[in-house]
Amino acid sequence: MKNLVFAAMLTVAASCTGPQPPINLIPKPVSVTAAGGYSTADTGSITRSQPDAPMPPEAYRLTVDKNGITVKASGEAGYFYALQTLKQLQTDRGVPHVDIADEPRFAYRGLMLDVSRHFFPKEFILKLLDEMSYYKLNRLHLHLTDGGGWRVQIDKYPELTRLASYRTDAAWGAGYGRGNRFLPEGTEGAYGGYYTKDDIRQIVAHAAQRHITVIPEIEMPGHSSEVFAAYPELCCAGEAYQGGDFCIGNPKTIPFLQDVITEIMELFPSEYIHVGGDEASKRHWRTCPKCQSLMRRENLKNVDELQSYLIHRMDEFIHSRGRKLLGWDEILQGGLAPEATVMSWRSTEGGIEAARMGHDVVMTPVSHLYFDYYQADPNTQPPAIGGYVSPRRVYGFNPVPVDSLTPEQHKHILGVQANLWTEFVPDEKHAEYMLFPRALALAEIAWTPQQQRSWLDFKPRMNAHIAGLQSRGINAFTLSDEIDISTKVDTVNKLIEVTLDAEKHPAEIRYTTDGSTPTASSTLYDGKPITVTDSVSIAAAIFRNGAPQKTYYGKVDYHRGINKPIRYNSTYSPRYTAGGTNALLNGYRGGITYLDGLWQGCENTLDCVIDMGEVTDIHEVSARFMQLIGPQVFQPGSVELLTSDDGVTFTPRGTIPTTVASDDPKLSFQEYAFYGNWRGRYIQLKANETNGGNFIFTDEIVIW
Ligand code: ACM
Ligand code: ZN
Repeated sequence: MKNLVFAAMLTVAASCTGPQPPINLIPKPVSVTAAGGYSTADTGSITRSQPDAPMPPEAYRLTVDKNGITVKASGEAGYFYALQTLKQLQTDRGVPHVDIADEPRFAYRGLMLDVSRHFFPKEFILKLLDEMSYYKLNRLHLHLTDGGGWRVQIDKYPELTRLASYRTDAAWGAGYGRGNRFLPEGTEGAYGGYYTKDDIRQIVAHAAQRHITVIPEIEMPGHSSEVFAAYPELCCAGEAYQGGDFCIGNPKTIPFLQDVITEIMELFPSEYIHVGGDEASKRHWRTCPKCQSLMRRENLKNVDELQSYLIHRMDEFIHSRGRKLLGWDEILQGGLAPEATVMSWRSTEGGIEAARMGHDVVMTPVSHLYFDYYQADPNTQPPAIGGYVSPRRVYGFNPVPVDSLTPEQHKHILGVQANLWTEFVPDEKHAEYMLFPRALALAEIAWTPQQQRSWLDFKPRMNAHIAGLQSRGINAFTLSDEIDISTKVDTVNKLIEVTLDAEKHPAEIRYTTDGSTPTASSTLYDGKPITVTDSVSIAAAIFRNGAPQKTYYGKVDYHRGINKPIRYNSTYSPRYTAGGTNALLNGYRGGITYLDGLWQGCENTLDCVIDMGEVTDIHEVSARFMQLIGPQVFQPGSVELLTSDDGVTFTPRGTIPTTVASDDPKLSFQEYAFYGNWRGRYIQLKANETNGGNFIFTDEIVIW
């Protein structure tokens, strides 16, 4: 009877005419052909038919036309994804006529939520799963255990939740929980919580209905201090609050971890079991008699090998039970376990190394996919852990490193994941704010072929989705009024092309090139690059209803030092090369994060000599340094300029001290600019960080 009613509705499906609004699908499908017109067929009466040839399990073909809605898919996941696409296509006028052929780029499309530093109730996880499925994300990695609290019921070790899931302080970010003490469950006013086994079963079932796998993480050997509040004998010191690493040498430790993993495997049907492996201090192992004795017995040369021993044992255990071990990239240290899959977080390097060794990899680099990082100018945002990962930056990540892997090795890159660590994320609303809309950019990285991805194409779609997120009760970040001033240096034609971009769309951007504050009558940016052949100071702002929002500034110089040879008396860090020897004379200035690949970082000292090629007039030499003391980025105490005719004898031309206090925690920049009428062939710049042992970062030495 029901089918007959649906069939009748299909036959009356009508086409509406009129201008067609854009189709704002996220992630963008592989192929969309829009025919014009709308179907008003009931989206619950969909014809499902078998494809002529088998399709991959997540692929689908969706056709909406005057005859109604047809989905072809071989697998249930493909059918499910067609329905998600259909939901996104729905408008007040019906469903636009389209023919969509679609399948994901990557099998692993993940989000990680840290439920230890702050606890997130089951209801929030269910809501998050709904949003993930709407955007075709298919892995939820739950970081269930860490120093913030143990968050899952384990029957064999009830003290884990009784004594290590509630704590004194709700806040965790400032001081990273130092001074926090765990309190027994039930203590009045204590902060915390955990998932019962029934909660987990409900989460796993809700996820499975949405073709999402929940991957549990049980941290080891580091980030485990909460365990020792319940079972102090499992750490080297034998008492709580003395460190975060398991005592691997204690004969009780590995059985404990294997028992826990056994119960975890009963609860979570996922192929992968994540065992952490990151950031163990390894400090106590060097002196602990039990650890030292184990190292002697097993002939382990150092503490990295001791960690590797534990991970090997867990790998063997998990593998023997038909599952696979997943761990953060530090599990490479001391030798990677044979069946392990690596989650590459510190950079993509660990992932590349593992893929070359024939191991599977999930890319989740801190530089692009850490959603605990600021998503806009820190001065406009609630406190976050640091960094700068804007939606644009997320979108710019390509998980398959170009040129560094063979096609065979590429296959080991299973996909991508973004991580929301929650030191600075106290509640659900804030988690939503950090996750959305960046998760939409993640979804598109994970699903859409790289060659079909473009920020300018994604941006309007992302903007269009914000109202939908809000209508579903998601506290999405509504995007910044920032203007990205980006440059492209053309050394052949000796010019720099400047592009202005806002993440809001549409945006009326007005700008000046003399540094003056833009007004409603300033030049309207038309999307085409601005050409600079000398020196300009760009000032740009978004205008709304004739009023400027915040003004953004950028200095652009096609200066006389560009592409000149440079010699270093100091070394720059291999982690922050900004492209290497030419970085400070390439015309590119960095943005607000030292991680953007444009800032060059030196440990303590920068001392370099630029060769202008001949004795020449020098009128101005300037360099900018950054300070952000959280990650140990400091201003130099002072910057000194010297010049020389012969490269041997140098004449001091001045020293400029910093004006930024070394304990000033705010992100700040100082320009050290020297003006004069000098002659010389060689220009030497020296800068020293005075606290010792910290980083100094500069992006360009400008010479006129
Ligand atoms: C990590 O961010 N420590 C994996
Ligand atoms: Zn020990």
